[in-house]
Amino acid sequence: SIVILDFGSQFTRLIARRFRELGAYSVILPGTATLERIQQENPQGIVLSGGPSSVYDEGAPRPAPGVLDMDVPVLGVCYGMQFLAHEAGGEVKRAGKREYGKADLTSYSGELFRGIEGEFVAWMSHSDSVTQLPQGYEVVAQTADTPVTAIENAQGKRYGVQFHPEVVHTPKGGQLLGNFLDICGVQRDWNAEHIVEELIENVRAQVGEQGRVLLGISGGVDSSTLALLLARAVGERLTAVFIDHGLLRLGERAEVEQALRGAGVNVVTVDAQDAFLGALAGVSDPEQKRKIIGREFIRAFERETAKLGDFEFLAQGTLYPDVIESAGGHGDKSGAANIKSHHNVGGLPDDVQFKLVEPFRTLFKDEVREIARLLGLPDHIRMRHPFPGPGLAIRCLGEVTEAKLDILRRVDDVFISGLREFGLYDGCSQALAVLTPIQSVGVMGDERTYSYTAALRAVTTDDFMTAEWARLPYEFLATMSNRIVNQVHEINRVVYDITGKPPATIEWE
Ligand code: XMP
Repeated sequence: SIVILDFGSQFTRLIARRFRELGAYSVILPGTATLERIQQENPQGIVLSGGPSSVYDEGAPRPAPGVLDMDVPVLGVCYGMQFLAHEAGGEVKRAGKREYGKADLTSYSGELFRGIEGEFVAWMSHSDSVTQLPQGYEVVAQTADTPVTAIENAQGKRYGVQFHPEVVHTPKGGQLLGNFLDICGVQRDWNAEHIVEELIENVRAQVGEQGRVLLGISGGVDSSTLALLLARAVGERLTAVFIDHGLLRLGERAEVEQALRGAGVNVVTVDAQDAFLGALAGVSDPEQKRKIIGREFIRAFERETAKLGDFEFLAQGTLYPDVIESAGGHGDKSGAANIKSHHNVGGLPDDVQFKLVEPFRTLFKDEVREIARLLGLPDHIRMRHPFPGPGLAIRCLGEVTEAKLDILRRVDDVFISGLREFGLYDGCSQALAVLTPIQSVGVMGDERTYSYTAALRAVTTDDFMTAEWARLPYEFLATMSNRIVNQVHEINRVVYDITGKPPATIEWE
């Protein structure tokens, strides 16, 4: 494996991701992880990530003693490169100007760049530069502004790049990281089949011959895939609880039940619509709605599972980005202001008496999708856009009633089916319909109408932290508008949301 030591760069996760894409297994650990912790991973190579510090600052983060004495190749990225240079006796200084954005390498050579040809565009983001090389190193790449853009000590197997090879703005960065894997001699056998077998083995080892496993499913790709995997691993000893909170989309419950039961998953569906809608009655504040749904979810789950006997294990579809043990990995989430309180299936209280089974803790979303394919999850579920835990409640602005949900379900169905029909669904990261409380005047036939306005929203995004509104074709939008007002009589006006995130969020509440 490759161990990536994280010194707080916002891009660290991407390094892991690129290695996975290249078929190599990698783990992210905090930059200061102990030597023993790192050795547990049997690393064949080490990457020192970028980070916000300056190597000459007092208290600048550094790898634990002994780490750099391990007999494996080391690649330093940005701060990581400056650290290598500084440690070896070179000089690092604040650059004359901060370099940010794309830069062309004016020349490059050496082992990291082996086999790479033509222009090399590199993404830069740094204020410090290596101004004097340490002994044993040579400069292997330059840009107009940064004479020391990549360094190499071929004998000591130490490499450093000032730019970020892991971001898409460095188009040939993947090749460079591949070269590093070759230098490390890492096997490139990290593929989905391999992962599935390993995950099943691990679950069996953890749960044993007798253990019973409880899983909450939402209909989303993560929990559905987990259900299939666990059924393979422990069969009947898995119970998948599906809480129907009445906030699902048209036909969604049946679709999920069918897909999972068909694959041999023991699904218990709980009808909790009345409890949820009752608790939501008269409430129109978005945060209040979210809190109520979170609370009712836990209640329904506890009420139901009490009836199902004893479970030693609770499974959760936690993914890698949620758990990375790192300095910077969670900074963007936990440090950020609380814009919305999230509710997730599996967002259970901390005091539950279960042992957790979290087979996806090392995986990224697209790896889960790949596993889902191997396990036979139908494509319409496997490639589904994310759907929030609070469901349609946060797309039904203001007070939620059964009548409004019914309208919204039909609008949503026209829009989502339309996207699929016109081949536009997969090009959007997420698409949704919102029922606004606005009523306005219209005319249909010879009659005046006074009905609701529906809003359509579709976005493209990589990480859902920022998003652009999808440039859907006008003709398609026109067709959707027609279909919606014709098929859903409670609607007489359709608008399309052309706001990015920020300043808006993806959901309207
Ligand atoms: P926003 O609206 O914050 O949404 O831009 C970003 C992404 O998160 C989803 N979302 C949720 N998912 N529970 C979830 O499981 C929630 O409470 C929740 N709120 C928003 C949203 O659909 C989008 O994909």
